[in-house]
Amino acid sequence: MAILDKHKIIETNATLLLVLSFLVVTIGGIVQIAPLFYLENTIEKVEGMRPYTPLELAGRDIYVREGCYVCHSQMIRPMRDEVERYGHYSLAAESMYDHPFQWGSKRTGPDLARVGGRYSDDWHVDHLRNPEAVVPESVMPKYAFLENRMVDGKYIEDVMAANAMTGVPYSDEMLEAAQADFQAQADPDSDYDGLLERYGDKVNVRNFDGQPGISETDALVAYLQMLGTLVDFSTFTPDANR
Ligand code: HEC
Repeated sequence: MAILDKHKIIETNATLLLVLSFLVVTIGGIVQIAPLFYLENTIEKVEGMRPYTPLELAGRDIYVREGCYVCHSQMIRPMRDEVERYGHYSLAAESMYDHPFQWGSKRTGPDLARVGGRYSDDWHVDHLRNPEAVVPESVMPKYAFLENRMVDGKYIEDVMAANAMTGVPYSDEMLEAAQADFQAQADPDSDYDGLLERYGDKVNVRNFDGQPGISETDALVAYLQMLGTLVDFSTFTPDANR
């Protein structure tokens, strides 16, 4: 009876109810937030993740500029239908070097988180030029103009430095070699040992059929071909399952 009486006091006194509700919400909030201050990182580290190569990064900027994220997501949710269609669900670590992230919220086209390696470079070039030529029912716009726009990588070191400021681990050596690595990935005749040494052997070195210069299409395809290929899922077990 005594408890009910006390509760009646609270229920009939709006100010007291407000103050006590505020207290309860505050305690709940602290319980949720406080542990985050003691964790260095909430992202589980996975093997294979590396910063994007200069050419991939340039391609990523074109992806963002053209608004590809308006129709394409880059996040596979851990649900059966998605995993069967696109592959292993996305890990937080896979977008840890994305500033800003490209998860997206709309899928007019398919998710692209694991599109890397699914098609040939030439398929992507044809598809970007005229999607209907390779997928007749496609409603994706044509991006043929990207082939005529050249990128020279003049500013790529600055873009990388800006990314480094946000925490992407680009080393001084990577920054210094930015321009050379940019060229090397696009020209298979050049010496790309340094590029592979810095970024690992999962770098897709493009073959350009003697085409002069590096176009925005080339950079974009280098980016698309990397998506989802960095983590080797045959060796990955989440911490929770260990
Ligand atoms: C208006 C919506 C729209 C926009 C904008 C768009 N796409 Fe698409 N995209 C689609 C649709 C629809 C498909 C599926 C049909 C097809 O393959 O063409 C698709 C398919 C794709 C595929 C093949 C995916 C697969 O798994 O088969 C790639 C790669 C792709 N788009 C890349 C891009 C890139 C890069 C951009 C930005 C330059 C872009 N898209 C912009 C609608 C869009």
